[in-house]
Amino acid sequence: MNDAVGSPQTALVLGGTSEIALAAMDLLVARRCERVVLACRDSGPTAVTAAQRLRSAGATQVDIVTFDASDLTTHRPAVAKAFELLGDVDLVLLAFGVLGSQAEFDADPIAAAAAVNVNYTASVSCGLEVANRFRHQGHGTLVVISSVAGERARADNYVYGSSKAGLDVFSQGLGDALVGDGARVMVVRPGFVHTRMTAGLKAAPFSTTPDEVGARIVRGLETGADIVWAPSVLRWVFLVMRHLPRLIWRRISAR
Ligand SMILES: NC(=O)c1ccc[n+]([C@@H]2O[C@H](COP(=O)([O-])OP(=O)(O)OC[C@H]3O[C@@H](n4cnc5c(N)ncnc54)[C@H](OP(=O)(O)O)[C@@H]3O)[C@@H](O)[C@H]2O)c1
Repeated sequence: MNDAVGSPQTALVLGGTSEIALAAMDLLVARRCERVVLACRDSGPTAVTAAQRLRSAGATQVDIVTFDASDLTTHRPAVAKAFELLGDVDLVLLAFGVLGSQAEFDADPIAAAAAVNVNYTASVSCGLEVANRFRHQGHGTLVVISSVAGERARADNYVYGSSKAGLDVFSQGLGDALVGDGARVMVVRPGFVHTRMTAGLKAAPFSTTPDEVGARIVRGLETGADIVWAPSVLRWVFLVMRHLPRLIWRRISAR
C-alpha cells in the first residue's frame, strides 16, 4: 500500500532499463519506494546496472524479471512474477518503447509493424494484465509513458506517433474504466528527452532530461494528475499545434 503521505512503497517497471523510468525511480526510492521489480528484455549488464543504481539510491530489494514486449506470451508470466515477488504492487511504470526511424519503416513495413507491436499492442496486453491485478488488490497506479508525438502526426515519424496515439487513447480509456476500482492510470507525455533513444538526433524545442521527466512523474503522482506533460509548457504548445491549419503544421513540423 502507498505510505501515509501517498508515496508508493513497491513498484514494477516494465522496460526496467529505460532512462526515463530509472530517473523517476531514483526519486521514488528516495521517498521510500524500497522494493522494486525491473522487467527487462534480458537480465544482462544493462539490467544489472539498473538494479545496482536503485540499490545505491536506497532500495532494499530489486529483482529483475525477463520479458519481451514483442512476445505476447511473456507478458502474463512477467507481471505474475512481479506481483508474487512484491506481494502488493502500488505502482506500475510502463516505460518500454522503440523509436525507430521513419526511413527504416518506409523501407521495411514489417519493421514498422514490429515497432507498433511493441509500443501499442504490447502496452494493451500489459496494461490490461496490470489492471486486472489492481482490481483484485483494490488499489494501484499505472503510469504510462506516452509521447507528444501522439498528439499530431509528423511526416518524419508518423509510425511512432500513431503507435503513441493509440497507446495514449488506450491508457485514458483504461483510467476511466478503473474508476471505482481503487486503481488509476496516469499518462505521461514527454517531448524530446535526451536519452539513448534520441542519441544523435537533433533536439526539438523544449527538449528535456530524464531527471526532469522523472520529477514531473513524481509530482503528478503526488497531485493525483491524470495527464502529465514534460515539460509542462508542452500542454499549451500542443493545444495550439493540434489546431493549426494542416498546411502550416506540415511546414513547421518538417525537420
Ligand atoms: N526519449 C524521448 O525523447 C522520449 C519522448 C517521449 C516518450 N518517450 C518514451 O519514453 C519511454 C522510455 O524511453 P527512454 O527515453 O527512457 O528510452 P530508453 O532508455 O531507450 O528506454 C526504452 C526502454 O524500452 C525497452 N524495450 C524496447 N523494446 C523492448 C522489448 N521488445 N521488450 C522489452 N523492453 C523493450 C528498452 O529495453 P532494452 O534496454 O532491452 O533496449 C528500454 O528499457 C518509451 O516508451 C519512449 O517511447 C521517450
